[in-house]
Amino acid sequence: MNLPYNGAFRLVRKIATGGMATVYEAEQLGPAGFAKRIALKVIHPKFARDEGWLQLFIDEAKLSANLVHGNIVQIYQLGEVDGTYYIAMEYIQGPTLRALMERHLELKQPIPQALACYIASRVCRALDFAHNSISPTAQRLDIVHRDVAPRNIMSTWDGHIKLADFGIAKARTSVDPSDQGRLVGKKHYMSPEQSLGLHVDASSDVFSLGLVLYELLALEPMFSEDITGLALEDIAIRPIPNVRDTVPSVSEEVAHIVTHALDREPKRRPTAAMMGQALDHWCETQPTLPTSDRMQEHLSAIYPNTFRPSKANLSAIGEETEFTNLRQGLRDQGRRFLAKLMGK
Ligand SMILES: Nc1ncnc2c1ncn2[C@@H]1O[C@H](COP(=O)(O)OP(=O)(O)OP(=O)(O)O)[C@@H](O)[C@H]1O
Ligand SMILES: [Mg+2]
Repeated sequence: MNLPYNGAFRLVRKIATGGMATVYEAEQLGPAGFAKRIALKVIHPKFARDEGWLQLFIDEAKLSANLVHGNIVQIYQLGEVDGTYYIAMEYIQGPTLRALMERHLELKQPIPQALACYIASRVCRALDFAHNSISPTAQRLDIVHRDVAPRNIMSTWDGHIKLADFGIAKARTSVDPSDQGRLVGKKHYMSPEQSLGLHVDASSDVFSLGLVLYELLALEPMFSEDITGLALEDIAIRPIPNVRDTVPSVSEEVAHIVTHALDREPKRRPTAAMMGQALDHWCETQPTLPTSDRMQEHLSAIYPNTFRPSKANLSAIGEETEFTNLRQGLRDQGRRFLAKLMGK
């Protein structure tokens, strides 16, 4: 059987070049004009030339290959062409949390507390699913993300939260081939045990998510020291501040959840499931329950241009984003519909 299109990709545009890879928006081609939009992460060749790194990378990618969950960016394929490795994955249209926080700083507006908790609660779902995943023979896989950070969490324009880059951080945070095997990675979101190079397990991801939630609420990182040694000291030694000291309007319950996730002792931290449930419980007490629709409405308010469905105007307004459906805030339609049903 001849499958001429099988595996062929067409690059649409370069999205970004990171420390380990370049990410492209691409199309995976099939017969009769079939084209599925994907993201293609092409690993910089210097990494793949290091055998230790490559083995770790492939082992972890294999573990994560079957993580199929609504809050996890799905991996479609790990491939190799002439020694260049790439990962084809679900293409996410929407901002990373890094971009979202920058947008709020630009607008001088905090992220609504309920939406910050909604985002963190969905990341908890992703982590809980991965932390408890098992192999086809029912063995625990003990998957740990190791790089839960604002640049690896995205929101779709529809308000769904996705955790990216499962299965690539172990190699990355263990060995940097250009750096004689020193510990690498983004220190600011590492747990104390990870930053000290000790054993990490699922509770390390919970700590990192605690730092991300702190930053969503405060719009500033808890630790921002750029020099590696000092950043390690920050995370491993300095007292952990209470988010209410920085932002007094944060509710006491939410501050407790953050503090609990940031316990230096891994065993005292909640599991991702417990943290997610605590956040949801708090969200349910709020006047408006934060949901993907609320998140979508919020995004449409802070990125008004993005929500114009017409592609024609995009270059004129300087935004490259494009929205693939015409959904607009459903909440008002729902409210009007209910009022009509009730004869009001
Ligand atoms: N699945 C995806 N769909 C759409 N865009 C993506 C996807 N994955 C990553 N991106 C975009 O590509 C950018 C670069 O991602 P990448 O994971 O290579 O680097 P990073 O996480 O920003 O940093 P680092 O270099 O530390 O890995 C992200 O900031 C995001 O904007
Ligand atoms: Mg990433």
